[in-house]
Parts: sequence; C-alpha cells; structure tokens
Amino acid sequence: MTADASRFWDGYATGGYDALMHLLPYEALQRRVLALAVPQEGHLLVAGTGTGWLEYLALDRTPRLQVTSVDFSARMLERAQRKCRRFPQAHFVHADLCAPLPFPADTFDAAVMCNVLYALPDGAAAVREVARVLRPGARFILTDPLPDRDAAVVRRAHLAALRALPWATRLSRTVRMLAAAPALLRAQHASRRIEAQAAARYHFRTGAEAVALCRAAGLIVCEEETAYAGQNWLLTLTRLNETA
Ligand SMILES: C[S@@+](CC[C@H](N)C(=O)[O-])C[C@H]1O[C@@H](n2cnc3c(N)ncnc32)[C@H](O)[C@@H]1O
Repeated sequence: MTADASRFWDGYATGGYDALMHLLPYEALQRRVLALAVPQEGHLLVAGTGTGWLEYLALDRTPRLQVTSVDFSARMLERAQRKCRRFPQAHFVHADLCAPLPFPADTFDAAVMCNVLYALPDGAAAVREVARVLRPGARFILTDPLPDRDAAVVRRAHLAALRALPWATRLSRTVRMLAAAPALLRAQHASRRIEAQAAARYHFRTGAEAVALCRAAGLIVCEEETAYAGQNWLLTLTRLNETA
C-alpha cells in the first residue's frame, strides 16, 4: 500500500505538481502558511514537502532558518532538493509520515503540514509524531482540503486575483501560465485521480474533525481559519508546554 501510494506521488512529482504554483490561490496558500509558521531563526519541519516551494520561499526570506523536509516520494524530494540547492541549511529526509519520525523529541521550533493529512492512512499517528518532535510552545500550521471542496471556486478565485493584479504583472503571469499549460493539464489529471479515489483511499476531514484529532494528539488550537479560496481549513496549533 505504501509503495503503491509513493509511486502515485512520484508520478505526480514528474507530472506537473510544480506548476500548481501558477494558480494564484495555491500560491496564496503557501504564502499564508509561510507567514504563520516561519520563525526568524531556529529549525522548521516540513512534513510532506512536495516539490519544495514552501522551503524555497522560507529560506529565500529567512536565511538564518534551518529547514528539514520529510517525504516518502523520492521524486518529490529530488525536485525539492534541486529547487533549494543554493541553501545549505535545507535538509531532505526520505521517510514515511505514518511511521515514527527519525528525530528525537523536542527537535523543532515550528512545523508545517500542508495538503498532506488527507493522504495519510493514519493521520492521527502522523500528527502525534509531529507533536512529539516539536519543542513545547512551538507552532504547528496544519491545513487540508474540506470534504465538500469545489475546484470551480478555486478557478474563479484565480481569475479574480489575476484581474486584480497590475496589468504588467497580469500579463507576465498569464504568459508564464500559458507556457506551463501542459504541466497544469497533467497536474489536473493527477488531481482528478485523487478525487476519483477520494472515498476509498483518502480521508478528507471537516475543520471540527481536524480540531478533535489535534486535541487528542495533545496540541492546543490557537486559531482556526479558512484558506485556498475557502476550500481548506487551516489550524494554528501549539504543543502544550508541560513545564509551564
Ligand atoms: C498534495 S502534496 C502536498 C505537498 C506540499 N506540502 C504542498 O503544499 O504543495 C502531498 C505530499 O505528501 C507526501 N506524502 C503522502 N503520503 C505520505 C507519507 N505516508 N509519508 C510521507 N510523505 C507522504 C506526498 O509524496 C506529497 O509530496
């Protein structure tokens, strides 16, 4: 099952995943997560790296940060590593998020898990593991798509955001997006496969279900909001400070 799943993500890594950044709501999601999660220094854990956009943006603006990214897809990790090659403080680890993480307790000052939870057969165990490796008081940003998400809403939000840009930026973004159209079509095909298998293989949660899962893992919910044009829930969490 795990080998099967990682093969799917390997295929998505070479099949257009990187091009999602052309979609303005997806870029806005990454930037929102970044704004909430990234400390000025310390050690950030990215659980489920994908092709490494978040790490790239984080290290580009916060050079004193250390980032460790975990993924079980070798192809995703290769892409992320290539993207971040000018940052020696970026580390990439091939590991399954549903198994114990290869880090001691209390290692990280912040953590991010963006659009990953739904894909995990044991999401609760993965969240418990992230909580274990966080330092007490550290911040954890967790976001995932809602069960009743609608891709058409995201497309409309993309067009509205595009129209709101200054004309020169709008033009250059449109040209770049047209150039990326084949990759975006491949990405659309992969995300249709996710939708087709949503009931059997993936587990999309409501915000309330996610809150319950996080509390059971010993996390405190600081803030709840929506993101990705209202199609994701997003939680700002922290680990209970046992010594307080
Ligand atoms: C939809 S992508 C999200 C990537 C990135 N966080 C983003 O926001 O674009 C899901 C990622 O989770 C990874 N993943 C899925 N199941 C995993 C598992 N059991 N262990 C480690 N990584 C996993 C996939 O390989 C993929 O890179």
